[in-house]
Amino acid sequence: VAVRNLDQVLVDHAHCERKAAATALSLINRYPKMHDLVRRCTRLAQEELGHFQAVYNELVKRGLEYDYDRGDPYVQQLSVHIRKGTQEHLMDRLLVAGIIEARSHERLLLLAQALEAGELGDLYRDMANTEAGHAQLFVDLATRYYLAADVEARLGELLQREAVIAAELPLEPRIH
Ligand SMILES: [Fe+2]
Ligand SMILES: [Fe+2]
Repeated sequence: VAVRNLDQVLVDHAHCERKAAATALSLINRYPKMHDLVRRCTRLAQEELGHFQAVYNELVKRGLEYDYDRGDPYVQQLSVHIRKGTQEHLMDRLLVAGIIEARSHERLLLLAQALEAGELGDLYRDMANTEAGHAQLFVDLATRYYLAADVEARLGELLQREAVIAAELPLEPRIH
């Protein structure tokens, strides 16, 4: 479905990269005193914005229109499970961000394998390589601020929720 509707996938992908950068900046804004978080999210925001730039350039090259974001049901449904107003809010935010990164990495890798080894296949391969470390970055940060056993247990719970969400989503030409 994705390869047959690559134009739609590219527009959706541009939104994903922009939102990944925005998530990193939002964490810095919310937790300014957490040095490791600020340091690693700064680097992450730069990488994600670089990805956005690469995908946006591809849109322009193909004469596609970058439009308003129609929203991402996968991310919206997953974010419902972030506990609000508790000590664990940051843990959930980090782990949900990590799960989204892991799923994105998986999808970009699949696209890289499915596309011809031409320009776009190479672009996706390069991006998938960078994305590979992002999920772990968020799990590492969660472990920096919470007990490893608690992080592991919560990650397991969230992954179970994610499996249900992913199984029920319709098959559409988008990253998630
Ligand atoms: Fe990215
Ligand atoms: Fe990423």
